[in-house]
Amino acid sequence: MAVVEAVLVGAGNRGRFTYGGFAREHPDRLRLVALAEPDDERRATVAAEHGLGPERVFRDFRELLARPALAPVAIIATGDTLHVAPALAALERGYHVLLEKPIAPEAGDCVRVVEAAERAGRMLQIGHVLRYAPFYTRVHALLSSGRIGRVLTVDMKENVAFWHLTHSYVRGKFRNRTLAAPIVLAKTCHDLDLLCWFVGAPAARVSSFGRLSHFRSEDAPKGAPARCTDGCPVQEGCPHDAVRFYVGPDERIARAWPWTDVSSDPSREARRRALERGPYGACVYRCDNDVPDHQVLAIEFEGGATATFTMNGLGSHEKRTIRVTGTEGELRGVFQDGLLELSRHGSLGVERFEHRGSPFDHFGGDPGLLAHFTDVVARGRPDEVRASGRVSLESHLLGFAAEASRESGRTIEMAAQRREARAAAGLAG
Ligand SMILES: NC(=O)c1ccc[n+]([C@@H]2O[C@H](COP(=O)([O-])OP(=O)(O)OC[C@H]3O[C@@H](n4cnc5c(N)ncnc54)[C@H](O)[C@@H]3O)[C@@H](O)[C@H]2O)c1
Repeated sequence: MAVVEAVLVGAGNRGRFTYGGFAREHPDRLRLVALAEPDDERRATVAAEHGLGPERVFRDFRELLARPALAPVAIIATGDTLHVAPALAALERGYHVLLEKPIAPEAGDCVRVVEAAERAGRMLQIGHVLRYAPFYTRVHALLSSGRIGRVLTVDMKENVAFWHLTHSYVRGKFRNRTLAAPIVLAKTCHDLDLLCWFVGAPAARVSSFGRLSHFRSEDAPKGAPARCTDGCPVQEGCPHDAVRFYVGPDERIARAWPWTDVSSDPSREARRRALERGPYGACVYRCDNDVPDHQVLAIEFEGGATATFTMNGLGSHEKRTIRVTGTEGELRGVFQDGLLELSRHGSLGVERFEHRGSPFDHFGGDPGLLAHFTDVVARGRPDEVRASGRVSLESHLLGFAAEASRESGRTIEMAAQRREARAAAGLAG
């Protein structure tokens, strides 16, 4: 397979470690030939990691994308609110685009990006890495094989560990609607994408409930100051103490996420200084967060299949579970444990499938997506892009509809949601 060249927009956590990491580990598949990143330290580090000279290194995506295309692919790994402008500019320049999820925090913008890719005749791959994790690939293959008959109902749960919720959705980058998409997209658009893929029919309507129940000032322990570093009286017994969580681990551990979000310098002194000033040292009960810490969805699909989905933000462990019930059997599994079980009605036997993997690459999802995408680009097969913009748009619109339902208390019809999103993008019908 020919090596695929790409430019990188945003050399943060995903850009540097996931995309940059794949290029370094698989130089026969992916080569980064230019990058844009405003942070001086990140820009210099990632440029050095990929041997890029100053003429290939830019401070801003606009400088990079103002030039004629430097490669066939642009990888866009900027934050949630900065996807649309670089995606549209890259498509206009003729790049195929690998765009991180969510496409955009507003439904109309998602439609604009997808339509632009189709008008430009370029591939648009969305970062739905779980579709490429062997565990979920197997779920899809088993369902497609008809082994459990016609799918009647799916139950999926995402238990987000409490430290992950506080890191990203209470203190961190995704903590409110001005910084990021609603959590049903920012975190669980992967799960909605999988649900739609497994059911294989468009969603017809959705109802959703959920709220921010715990991480509010009303729940703050008596006397807790604004920062964990300011002498909190309950610091010792608090499960959310930033000092223990962020400064406790040694430097080797602190070179990985989530510590890299706090400080690119892994030393304990640097991490402590970051807590004294930055968002990750804030008391979890005194942040400017508005993200629900629990949310449920009930979905009906065209053809009658139903699904339930629960996001629980105060789990003790990270766990995604799935149960699919069909007319002839049932499939059950736990993603992080890598275990799937299939039973057929009327048979005592249970078939078991195991997929071991590492949490650091989404249990094979990250390299799986990149191996697949570089392969379809190298072979020029846009029809084989599994999580294309058009496909992903459906699950994004389901997420926006769920958020509208959560906020309004109404059931949202997907036909109306699709119409409204097209209208918001300035398109008719
Ligand atoms: N697919 C997945 O499973 C997955 C997992 C985590 C995050 N994400 C998504 O990936 C995206 C990036 O997340 P992250 O954690 O890497 O964020 P990050 O903040 O670590 O990285 C974003 C980078 O973009 C840079 N940037 C800002 N303005 C820029 C500009 N004008 N031009 C070029 N670069 C610019 C920032 O300086 C930063 O380094 C987000 O949308 C996030 O939701 C996806």
